[in-house]
Amino acid sequence: MTHFQYAIPNTFRMDVKAKIFAEYSSVEQLQELLERYKDEQILHIGAGSNLLFTKDFDGVILHSAMRRARALDEDSDSVLIEAESGLVLDELIAQLCDMGLSGMENLSYIPGEVGASAVQNVGAYGVEAKDVIVRVNTWSIPDQNVVILDNTQCQFGYRDSIFKNELRGKAIVTHVVYRLNKHFEPKLDYGNLRAEVGNNPTPMSVREAVIRIRQQKLPEVSELGSAGSFFKNPIVPRETYEAIAAQYERVPHFEQDGGVKIPAAWLIEQCGWKGKTLGGAQCYPKQPLVLVNANNATPQDIVNLAAAICQDVKDKFNITINPEVNYI
Ligand code: EPU
Repeated sequence: MTHFQYAIPNTFRMDVKAKIFAEYSSVEQLQELLERYKDEQILHIGAGSNLLFTKDFDGVILHSAMRRARALDEDSDSVLIEAESGLVLDELIAQLCDMGLSGMENLSYIPGEVGASAVQNVGAYGVEAKDVIVRVNTWSIPDQNVVILDNTQCQFGYRDSIFKNELRGKAIVTHVVYRLNKHFEPKLDYGNLRAEVGNNPTPMSVREAVIRIRQQKLPEVSELGSAGSFFKNPIVPRETYEAIAAQYERVPHFEQDGGVKIPAAWLIEQCGWKGKTLGGAQCYPKQPLVLVNANNATPQDIVNLAAAICQDVKDKFNITINPEVNYI
């Protein structure tokens, strides 16, 4: 019988275990681990902030403990920063804002690590990681070699990249190179960010405003387990939006290439799920896009709640909302 003895870190704060959990501090150590466990099922994780383990994992979980960052190059306008995959993204952003470098301040306080910023193309308040990523260094498992992808090769999309598709399980992100600006051009057009920031913005004051907004709406993972937004915001055909707009007053929406984005939070709220619980899982009252582990939820509680919400949104609006969270 397999013994699952290693707790898997995950921000849902679920009690899930793996056969083996191994960390590495260099690309050489990563290679050794891949060689040692080549006959096992392998899953590489970041901080576990976007994962839902539906059961114990019968294999090896790998995690990067490479956590350095350095400036590679600079010109009069910008600095290239190379960060290792296991560095906590928000620690990096705090340092960059402190140095007066800009471009990532809107991504402040997103849980997760540098590696995941590329895999997931994390985004918030009108900025996505793809806007600042220059290139991504990976260890290619099939090639047994370092492979470097430039921004275009990463095929970034909304919470999506080549690392979640074609290269899933094949490439391990080891470093991400970001371009930061020396001259500050604040991006404040999303929601109430401009009002929250006030006059004379600096990278640090924008960071602080973003943190205040996130703290008002999103659960603190140290207190309440969650994986941030559980669903992606759907982009629907214009006719679908117009049919809904004819029935409801003031439907929030954002024009997009190829359709109209309707906030999943709004759809879920209209279905009456905001604040509701199912087992130990809850649809978060301040932001219904987030599902939380309110009371010793099991993975199945979260799966059931997510499925019930999806079904109701489908029945009421004929819109399919898809999880942003990866089920393992
Ligand atoms: N809304 C409601 N009811 C609510 C809350 C929101 O109807 O209770 C509607 C409002 O119309 C609001 C709109 O939803 O204007 C958008 O809400 P919000 O600005 O909070 O953002 P979001 O679209 O729900 C996305 C990201 C977040 C990111 C925020 C801010 C996705 C899946 N989520 O959420 O990312 O922080 O924008 O940029 O795109 C994450 O990915 O984990 C995450 C938290």
